[in-house]
Amino acid sequence: MSVLTPQQNQADFTWVPDAAKIAVEAGRQLRDFFLAGVETEYKGEVDLVTVADRTVEAYVRASLAERFPQHGVYGEEGTRDRMDADFRWYVDPLDGTTNFAHGFPHFCVSLGLERRTDELTSDEDGQLVAAVIYDPMRDELFLAERGKGAWLNGRRIAVSPAKHLAESLIATGFPSRKRHANPNIHFYHEFTLRSHGVRRAGSAALDLAYVACGRLEAFWEFHLNPWDTAAGFLLVEEAGGRVSTFDGSPRELNSREVLASNGRIHDELLETFEALFAGRNLDPIPTPAEYAGRRKAAAGANRTI
Ligand code: IPD
Ligand code: CA
Ligand code: CA
Repeated sequence: MSVLTPQQNQADFTWVPDAAKIAVEAGRQLRDFFLAGVETEYKGEVDLVTVADRTVEAYVRASLAERFPQHGVYGEEGTRDRMDADFRWYVDPLDGTTNFAHGFPHFCVSLGLERRTDELTSDEDGQLVAAVIYDPMRDELFLAERGKGAWLNGRRIAVSPAKHLAESLIATGFPSRKRHANPNIHFYHEFTLRSHGVRRAGSAALDLAYVACGRLEAFWEFHLNPWDTAAGFLLVEEAGGRVSTFDGSPRELNSREVLASNGRIHDELLETFEALFAGRNLDPIPTPAEYAGRRKAAAGANRTI
């Protein structure tokens, strides 16, 4: 595909044209690996990695270094280059590895650029200035630069106009580490009951890109990393949305809590998080044993449950 349209060129981008070329080539490599099939290895109990993750990170690392030699690169598969640079790329070479490993065609490459100033301490965030997310299976290229809008395949995108959670389609994800310690299933249950539904599609970067282009009204997740979120945060904000923690504090690149939305339903989401964390308004979930008991009683009375 041609990476930028004439309309986008008029947007006068600085970093995105070259980063988009790198992402599209990285995506082509991912697609080739996907179609050929690759073996899966384990980084943790259910944390998967493949030769595609490593090969594509090496390609992106070398390509960014060639095009932006002064910029730092921080990648999921271990790249930590020029960490004191004024600009830093957060690279997820393959977001959606579990999908990829199972032949489920929903994954992407994500590149987010942060501008850092000398006063920042190592755990303070700089300003996100550029974002590229490419889905090679759908040939969808999401781009943003600060102040220049968010784009999908050459068209400006904007968040959804929906005003209420009850009319929203939303998304979440679940961590692959310390799964037993995570309460997200309760939030999943509650938001399912209060919305049109909750998707768990397996790529946080695409979830954020989908909020930016209005396919989803919101996305939340615990314990993401900056390579999952840097590009997606800027896309959502440039498309008119809002990103915060679960209590409305400013979002953080280390992404312990991410709540992204179209902005219009953000306060309602924050109120819901507050109530649920306080244990208010929870709809009890029947245990499997309780359900089995009700099912047996219903069968005995010749009725359905
Ligand atoms: C994962 C995906 C997934 C999210 C996980 C991430 P990976 O990234 O974004 O949707 O739920 O928390 O770790 O491992 O496929 O790059
Ligand atoms: Ca990821
Ligand atoms: Ca990854």
